[in-house]
Order: sequence, then C-alpha cells, then structure tokens
Amino acid sequence: MPSIPRPDTVLITAGPTYEPIDAVRFIGNRSSGRLGVELARAAHAVGLDVILALGPNTVAPPSFPERLRVDRFRTCADLEELLLDLWPGHADVLVMAAAVADYRPKQPAPGGKLRRHSEGLTIEMEATPDLVAACARRKKPGQRVIGFALETQAELMSSAADKIRRKGLDAIVANPLETMDADEIDGLLIRADGRHESPGRLSKPMFAAWLIDRIMRG
Ligand code: C5P
Repeated sequence: MPSIPRPDTVLITAGPTYEPIDAVRFIGNRSSGRLGVELARAAHAVGLDVILALGPNTVAPPSFPERLRVDRFRTCADLEELLLDLWPGHADVLVMAAAVADYRPKQPAPGGKLRRHSEGLTIEMEATPDLVAACARRKKPGQRVIGFALETQAELMSSAADKIRRKGLDAIVANPLETMDADEIDGLLIRADGRHESPGRLSKPMFAAWLIDRIMRG
C-alpha cells in the first residue's frame, strides 16, 4: 500500500506573470508555459482531473472535453487570487511551474502611459508574496506541493534544497537557466527527505510524463 494516496486532481500553474509599469508596459520574463501545458496533458493522459492556471503569452493549452479546466492569470496578484480560490479546496497536488515575478513595480503609473524624459526613469519595485510558500502553509494532510527552481548549474542542488526548506515544499524540480523557453529540460527532482533523481535531458513532453509518473507513485 502506498503511504501517500493516489491523487485525483492536480493543479498546475504555468507561464510568466506580467507586472504592470503603466497602462501599456510591464515587467515579465521569457517563460513559454510549455512544460506546464505538457504536464497538464500528461496528467490528463493518466486519468487525473486537471486544473491548469496559465499565464499570458504562453503556448496554447490543450482542449479536452472533460477533466481539464483552464484558468488564466496575468499578474502575480491575479494568480494569488486564483490560488486562494483553488488551494487547498480543489486539488490534491499543486505543481507550481509558473515563473512568478519576484519583484513588481510598487506603484504602477495611474492611468495612461509614462512620458519619455531625457533624465531617465527609476521604477521603485517591491517584493511579490511567495505564492507557493503560502500554498504550502495552507496544505492539508495528504496534499503535496511541488515547486520549480531555475538555477545556475553550479548552484542547482544546494539552492533548490534550500528552497524546499524555506518554502515548506514536498519536492522541487531544479532545472538550469537554459530550460526557459527551450525545447528540452534537464530537470532534477529533489524531495524534502533528500532523495533525488533525474531522467537526464529530455523533451518537455517526455519529462512531463516522467514527472507525472513520479507524482502518481507518491
Ligand atoms: O524563489 P524562486 O522564485 O526561485 O522560487 C521558484 C518557485 O517559487 C517556483 O515554484 C515559483 O512558481 C514559486 N514562486 C512563487 N511566488 C513568487 C516567486 C516564486 O510562488 N513570488
């Protein structure tokens, strides 16, 4: 008997957040959401119900007639609100693959568009709330929270292990910076108890199938 129950529903977040500077500009990142979309596909293929929270400017999500719901977000604040609605009430496992901004403009320019000035522009930024850490604090017994960590190769293991502790995660997928917006991923799954494994460099669909299999096994 596995000690962790087989999940029924998985909540996957994917893609970047766009943090507004003014009405037309934002600070974002190059995340394509591709791995998260492949995770949704792989989870659906093994019979899980899937909720996919997908950010702006990402690859198209799959459309299945049943067992897949797609919610969209744009900013970290949008995603925070979605997660407050969905977690821990609507899923057994949260896979937080979204590339959430760590900082956002403190005060987006009210209305309209910032004017160009020859003396330059300073934008004051504030730290965003750590959404996955907040979800980990809200989880109930039997639920699992899996984070992602984009790291330089030199710090891959140590920094990801530190994030598991700091954020209270059950596991983290550490992957090198080159993964962002790439076709392949060389991911390392590290669990809170220190066990770690990697399937080697794989296409994102193959890695997604591997990770979902590991999640199903507990
Ligand atoms: O600390 P770092 O941003 O490297 O951690 C990455 C993990 O934390 C990812 O799972 C990401 O989705 C999550 N994260 C978050 N809220 C933030 C920043 C990152 O949930 N404000």
